[in-house]
Amino acid sequence: MAHDAVESPDAARSEAGGDPFTPPAGSALWRKHFLLGAATASYQIEGAVNEDGRLPSIWDTFSATPGKVLHGDTGAVACDHYHRWESDIELLTSLNFEAYRLSIAWPRVMDEAGRPNRKGLDFYKRLLGKLKDKGLQTFVTLYHWDLPQHLEDRGGWLNRDTVYRFADYADLMSRELGGQVDAWMTLNEPWCSAFLGYGNGHHAPGLANPRYATQAMHHLLLAHGHALAVLRENDPASKKGIVANVGKGSANSSSDADRRAAHLFEVQHNGWILDPLLKGEYPDDLWSLWPGSEPLVLDGDMRTIHAPLDFLGINYYFRTNVQSDGAHGYTEVPLAGVERTQMGWEVYPDGLRDLLVGFHRNYPALPPIYITENGMASDDKVSDGRVDDAQRITFLKRHLAAVDQAIAQGVDVRGYFVWSLLDNFEWAFGYERRFGVVHVDYQTQQRTVKRSAQLIARFLQERAARA
Ligand code: FCB
Repeated sequence: MAHDAVESPDAARSEAGGDPFTPPAGSALWRKHFLLGAATASYQIEGAVNEDGRLPSIWDTFSATPGKVLHGDTGAVACDHYHRWESDIELLTSLNFEAYRLSIAWPRVMDEAGRPNRKGLDFYKRLLGKLKDKGLQTFVTLYHWDLPQHLEDRGGWLNRDTVYRFADYADLMSRELGGQVDAWMTLNEPWCSAFLGYGNGHHAPGLANPRYATQAMHHLLLAHGHALAVLRENDPASKKGIVANVGKGSANSSSDADRRAAHLFEVQHNGWILDPLLKGEYPDDLWSLWPGSEPLVLDGDMRTIHAPLDFLGINYYFRTNVQSDGAHGYTEVPLAGVERTQMGWEVYPDGLRDLLVGFHRNYPALPPIYITENGMASDDKVSDGRVDDAQRITFLKRHLAAVDQAIAQGVDVRGYFVWSLLDNFEWAFGYERRFGVVHVDYQTQQRTVKRSAQLIARFLQERAARA
């Protein structure tokens, strides 16, 4: 393994080629209690999809369907983390990260009747045990999109029964893993599960109807609410929250119609999730965007969804420029001449700052925030055993600076997780898009620390030395 990460600070500084990662003096990022970690998700790294009693998930089915994933890639092997977890954790700690965000594969830990699968559970117990031995904080997501296929076969998130199956799963996990988890996150990015999964079909299970998307979202949020109550009961000492991806919309012109389009973009991406969680209601403008698509909401549902959170996880990646579609919605108008990543996403750090400050102003119930994902894909290549990911270094630095500015404006941000520790299976884009701070050669499974990770390691070392 090419673990040449933790060199002396001087070596890392010269490697940085005059672009050190180090934040300015006085930055909140120097504060020891501002947590810096790395994130991954089960289906994207584990592989071993048929081992030790794991059941199929919707992503196994979807990725095996021709035309759904770039180059026909699947998560069958991925980073082989299921077998390499020990050396991956060594690598994580060698980079001086203080926290690790991982997700549990629901199909690995429960059978169809809801009985525990000991082998799957033991995998996570060993993993979390090692992380705790190493002194890392553990942030565990229960659902990062790998729904057991047998639940999808009965309607998935369109079936209200899945809500109660999720609560059973949360119950089992918090009874088995309670004490090993510092922070639980019920769901990762319900927007993606609901909209990409059921609204436009870009993600598993691949259905496309706005009415499905709103019903799936309602059940996802309700599942979150029920799971939260169970987690509080079983594991009172841990923190509990949920992770939302948020998007910044900009208006293509100063016309009222385009400004309304940008507003609707943010309602669709942010208010759809954050209003029910933090205000107990869906935003009215959602129904002007999707007339007649209101979900079936039963008495008491909104109260369950609106339960207080210990923290909110925010994932941020890019900005979207939009104009009115002439009817009740918006269409994207890509800006020319802006910096973009391998995903085609615009690099726009101010969006992160502005969204955080806006949420702080608009939601009196906003809990403390962790940035649970931020990062970028680039077509990284290993050359002489090194990976020079210059764009990522600048990207991370600028987004951390945006977080710092939000903190200075009063937003309570407690930490930041880079997406991702490893290059991995990037959903519909397969293995082509590399988000890791560590490069993975999928032929040999060799890991090579990228320059960005070396610089993060150096900063964290300096920070620890100052504490
Ligand atoms: C987020 C997902 C994560 C990863 C990044 C790039 O939407 O939560 O799994 O794919 O995007």
